[in-house]
Amino acid sequence: MLVEFRPHTRLRGERPADLGASVLPVVNAVSESDADLGKVRVVCDWVQYRNNFRDAVDIRPILRGEPGALPEPIGVRDDDLEIAVDVRRATEAPLGELTATLLRQVPERVVLEGWTRGSQSCVWQFNALYWSALELWEKATGRGYEQALPGGESDARNTAAATELIEELFAVWDRLAATNALPEELYVVELGVGNGNQAKVFLDRFRELDTGHGKGYYGRLHYLMCDYSAHVLDLARETVAEHAERVSLFALDATRPRRSLAFLQYKAFLIYISNVYDNLPTDEVAQLGGRTYCVQTRAYLPAEAAGELATSISATPGQLPELVRKLLRLGPSLLVDACPAHFPDVDSAVRFWQRTWSAVRLEERYVPLAGLDTYPLTEALTGETLRPLLESGADVRMHVNNGAVASFDETLGLLHPYGKLVCHDLFVTDIQGYRTTFRGPGKYDGSVVNWVNGPLLAHVGRRRGFDVHYEPFRHRGGGHIVTMTAQVRD
Ligand SMILES: C[S@@+](CC[C@H](N)C(=O)[O-])C[C@H]1O[C@@H](n2cnc3c(N)ncnc32)[C@H](O)[C@@H]1O
Repeated sequence: MLVEFRPHTRLRGERPADLGASVLPVVNAVSESDADLGKVRVVCDWVQYRNNFRDAVDIRPILRGEPGALPEPIGVRDDDLEIAVDVRRATEAPLGELTATLLRQVPERVVLEGWTRGSQSCVWQFNALYWSALELWEKATGRGYEQALPGGESDARNTAAATELIEELFAVWDRLAATNALPEELYVVELGVGNGNQAKVFLDRFRELDTGHGKGYYGRLHYLMCDYSAHVLDLARETVAEHAERVSLFALDATRPRRSLAFLQYKAFLIYISNVYDNLPTDEVAQLGGRTYCVQTRAYLPAEAAGELATSISATPGQLPELVRKLLRLGPSLLVDACPAHFPDVDSAVRFWQRTWSAVRLEERYVPLAGLDTYPLTEALTGETLRPLLESGADVRMHVNNGAVASFDETLGLLHPYGKLVCHDLFVTDIQGYRTTFRGPGKYDGSVVNWVNGPLLAHVGRRRGFDVHYEPFRHRGGGHIVTMTAQVRD
């Protein structure tokens, strides 16, 4: 049996995690079960998100490929299952009992979808619904989305950070202007604009600095605000109303920016993204015991929560999957028209949405990858891109951030040779960081958060001829936010 205790740093400090309480009851339960003890992995994480998709103990089957379908690597471990433990809940949940029950019988659940790669799960439809119907969600909770972000407000509003960016832009433009190489139109793109506060800080500061600088750059500026939520774009438009002449709004999917922004090829001087990559669909892959796996997931509602939820809308648990599908397709307002027997008004539909989201969990299983080249990382990149990271040493399970990689890869092609992409987000900057710390998924209000695989983005950028650089966000101490900068290599 293999026991992996990832949050080892939590074994020290004022309130150390209790190794015995997290591991022993689980190992005892496994040894008393019928499981083949030589084929079990016990993996302990500290799941820092109070709202997440896991139970205190989960069981993940590890599947084998069809016999003969895969070349047999030598000296591999052929595990049957992984038992995943949330160490944070070790003192409050009966881990041994939970493990024994899970090993004895398949728990009752209302399954919301078939097994699929993480990036294809319906949790991403919930995520999109959150942004498109944000107004209804925020009205019901009385909280703005920024309060759920790390630090309780977005670093995008930071004036010092905006000033630094603008001064750098002015320096580049001055140099180009000196050789008559500065284009008339000065493009800045922002992806995932939220309430528009970052754009406002940037534009206010830009106008102010330009007045002092005296080159008239403000009058040539085209600030493109891009988001997939029409509601968010409306909010942002209002926030920057006084800069209306300088701003254009684009409804687009950040994972496919070229579909709308291809006209900007080699023209954008700044592409700015904050707290968006961690909110884009992702798969996870793993290298376990010498084999490579894709993590498949399946969203479900635990039986008890499903029973209560169904009763609250005069339905049966069996009706829930169809009602959830309708909710995700239509949104809460139209759901009232489609299912008046269950939802007398919009408030009841919003309550259903929020309670469902709170109860949603993800089952997981490991499915062998037939070969990295057969795995579609994005439309343009195969899983071969992952090889140096997966083969970086010991076992590892990591995010692929398919949406962020696709977005990054496409936007690099929009940059002016002297342009740069700046992104503030939750980045894992070293693959080892996946071996010690849980990196998501978690829930931020109605949205999904996963940390972003920094080494993977850097690898993709370097292959395209860009320098990709990470540093802790400089303008606020103590947070986890990292700034990524990508620029054409000198
Ligand atoms: C957490 S908010 C960040 C807002 C702002 N940049 C900030 O830092 O405060 C994420 C934003 O990304 C947008 N978003 C999420 N997924 C997107 C996608 N696939 N395409 C376009 N926008 C997306 C959301 O609508 C939302 O405005």
